[in-house]
Amino acid sequence: MSNVTVDGDRLWQSLMTTAEIGGTPKGGINRQTLTDEDRKVRDWFAAACTDAGCAVSVDSLGNMFARRPGRDNSLPPICIGSHLDTQPTGGKFDGVLGVLAGLEVLRSLNDAGYETTAPIEVVNWTNEEGARFSPAMLASGVFAGVFSAEYAQSRVDQDGVKFGDALDRIGYRGNAPVGDHPMSAMFELHIEQGPVLELEDTAIGVVSGVQGVRWYELTIAGRDSHSGSTPMTTRQDALVAASKVIQLVRSIGLAHEPHARSTVGRVEVRPNSPNVVPGEVFLTVDLRHPDGAVLKAMGKELEHRLRREVEADGLALNLKCIWNSPPVEFDKELRRHIRRAADRLNLSSLDIVSGAGHDAAYVARVAPTAMVFVPCRDGISHNEEEYTTQDQCTAGAAVLLESVLSFDRSLQRQLESV
Ligand code: GLV
Ligand code: MN
Ligand code: MN
Repeated sequence: MSNVTVDGDRLWQSLMTTAEIGGTPKGGINRQTLTDEDRKVRDWFAAACTDAGCAVSVDSLGNMFARRPGRDNSLPPICIGSHLDTQPTGGKFDGVLGVLAGLEVLRSLNDAGYETTAPIEVVNWTNEEGARFSPAMLASGVFAGVFSAEYAQSRVDQDGVKFGDALDRIGYRGNAPVGDHPMSAMFELHIEQGPVLELEDTAIGVVSGVQGVRWYELTIAGRDSHSGSTPMTTRQDALVAASKVIQLVRSIGLAHEPHARSTVGRVEVRPNSPNVVPGEVFLTVDLRHPDGAVLKAMGKELEHRLRREVEADGLALNLKCIWNSPPVEFDKELRRHIRRAADRLNLSSLDIVSGAGHDAAYVARVAPTAMVFVPCRDGISHNEEEYTTQDQCTAGAAVLLESVLSFDRSLQRQLESV
């Protein structure tokens, strides 16, 4: 084990200082991607990394890489990454912990004067949340070759602003190409966002993989008409149809318990006037399951039942699958490093599947990747009350540091054996 240690107070200070950027009255953060708040936290992060002696580069989708050189800079870096953007009513830890714990690793290595074999890079991925520009994990998806850069740049928010224009506006379109950036490994530390670690009274989750996700956009077209004069029987009420869709989506999740999840998270009613029978509704559907075959079946069931139970009422439906991220299994060797790091630090650990999506799920396509989880209070996340204690954050950062160094030592041994 190394004798480098993270400074839990300093990590907490970074979390609480940056939480003020986009901080909400209820104690959460609203720092959606490519907004002024996002620019401010990026500036803070870049300055902190530069102060820590790192070179910061930015690619053409705004992904940021802070590099601390190693002994052998021809080796691809060992990366630590997550995201600084949040949901509109996000908490202080989702994503932010993973990036700022990476910064804490850099600072701790500096304090100890520790030279790693490979360079270390801390990455801030753009638009993990998908709240402003869907789908989620957009820029790590381009990095991994899942989407084209043009597709990402053309995504539009609810006000009609393009991703590419928002990126230019905050000044974070960098020069580096997206992808083509070999990594020896990538580690992501994240809060669990679910209840398992807390219920099991366990400090560390060794994440075995991420469940699959499918996102759909659905437009239901009926007919606008006067709410006072249109008889109940002749209406084409798109919102009434949407209420059926919402129940239908829920029943698909319930039918595939205990692992399935199904959610309608956004509903837009048009024209949204008290005395107009709604003529159009737009809504989103989020389906998840750890088994790709079951997830596919859930998608088929959605399509089939929409046709049978909603279209049959005479309304026109337009259903588009806009995102299909299959289940992911993380690298076994990196998981071993994480498990051993937790053991060495006398921290309890268990294997866990991630219910939430993460940049690591895409990066796993192009580099050995794994994730460390720490508990969050009552399993609550995507909520301003999201909370993880300082000790829990410190434990996660310590495991992250020890896993990175353990992997780095294994690279050194490989070099010596050739
Ligand atoms: C990301 O936050 C997701 O799981 O949707
Ligand atoms: Mn996250
Ligand atoms: Mn999130």
